[in-house]
Amino acid sequence: MIDKKYTILNYGCQMNESDSEHFAGQLSDLGYSLTNDYHNADVVVVNTCCVRESAEKKILGKIGELKGVKTSHPGQIICVAGCMAQKGGDKLVKKYPQIDLLIGTAQVNNFKAILLDFLADKRQKVYDDVSIKETEFEGQCIRKSSFAAWIPIMYGCNNFCTYCIVPYVRGRERSRSKESIKKEIERAVADGFKEFTLLGQNVNSYGKDQGNRHSFAELLKECNDIPGVERIRYMTSHPRDMSEEVVKVVSECKNICENFHIPAQSGSNRILKAMNRGYTRDKYLELVDSIKKYCPEAAITTDIIVGFPGETEEDFQDTLSLMREVQFDAAYTFIYSKRSGTPAAGYEEQIPLDVKKERLNRLMEVQNENSLAKNKLLIGKKLEVLAEGPSQSNSEIWTGRTRTNKLVLWPVMGKEYTIGQSVNIEITSAQTWLLKGKAES
Ligand code: 5AD
Ligand code: SF4
Repeated sequence: MIDKKYTILNYGCQMNESDSEHFAGQLSDLGYSLTNDYHNADVVVVNTCCVRESAEKKILGKIGELKGVKTSHPGQIICVAGCMAQKGGDKLVKKYPQIDLLIGTAQVNNFKAILLDFLADKRQKVYDDVSIKETEFEGQCIRKSSFAAWIPIMYGCNNFCTYCIVPYVRGRERSRSKESIKKEIERAVADGFKEFTLLGQNVNSYGKDQGNRHSFAELLKECNDIPGVERIRYMTSHPRDMSEEVVKVVSECKNICENFHIPAQSGSNRILKAMNRGYTRDKYLELVDSIKKYCPEAAITTDIIVGFPGETEEDFQDTLSLMREVQFDAAYTFIYSKRSGTPAAGYEEQIPLDVKKERLNRLMEVQNENSLAKNKLLIGKKLEVLAEGPSQSNSEIWTGRTRTNKLVLWPVMGKEYTIGQSVNIEITSAQTWLLKGKAES
């Protein structure tokens, strides 16, 4: 065994969090132990995101800073992984020679071999082949949470929305086998995990690359039936591919959470077309109606981009009216960010930043009103909450999440709770971002 330490700086989406847990597992296999201080780490993995320019800038700043850290810690190995690594390739290592290993998005489970190779010859290398089809992995991952587990079910994306860099950096869709997904969940249940989030860039396409169009609904049902599983979540769905069958399965299966995250991106047909989203506003609203019909208690959340090239005030008004019509429980709202290499980056009529910012503010105002109104409807209800631990600022207040993924705070009042415990909470007050309540005695 070696007495060496690693740290992982993770940026971006849940898929990256999951990949980081796989890096951690492989580092631990090699005898490395975790430190949270990258100044003292022998291996630093920076797991990167390039979905928006703001993320990229922040990460490049960190990679710049690591140059100095490495100078005072000679022999430190700097690995840059994830979407920016995939995108940047040779150019990135030339510009930042402090990087020892560049690890593309399809190489996560080869990391152990890559690192051993580096330890043998200490030569800077770039691993950016994104065409690797391998979806199975033997090794363990080290999960951050002790009760909620990320379970990747597929990798890559075939959609090519015109604003999005993901299909270029994550490659084509490839699904894991149902057997290995279920085996991973069973193993995690045995380790005490209760909540499982099935991950993919477009989970509704699960299995289509293997010729099975109804695979995602089947997978959900089978995961629901695994003994010991308490909650199943999944992300991200594409409204075009989300079938009524999936909505029905969610309504029928008791362990699948009533939480539909369906990124609309825009409420304007003209912009949806320019984004290559593959659905109209009406089609989207049909999906929302079907969710409200089969799962009336469900929370519906979305992603919205403002300031896509060519977006007029009228288009933006269509987005605002969609928000008012659907009454989302929450929305992740973004300013359009030009990603070179994507079709929209070349579109004329890029929208000035001040207009984009002003639209974002108006959008958030509408959403905040909706979120508060939706949360207030829950006052007086008793909800099942999975406890996540004491709140950061006050150990006498515990936090957890409802099946609909809402954050709940409650006072411990002398009781003892454990992380991952299921607690029934009566909601007593509501704010825009959270609910407060009291535990059932
Ligand atoms: N600019 C702004 N937001 C983007 N997203 C994806 N690409 C871009 C971009 N170029 C948003 C979408 C997606 C979420 C993960 O990030 O809303 O659903
Ligand atoms: Fe970022 Fe997209 Fe890559 Fe996730 S898949 S890390 S959101 S660029």
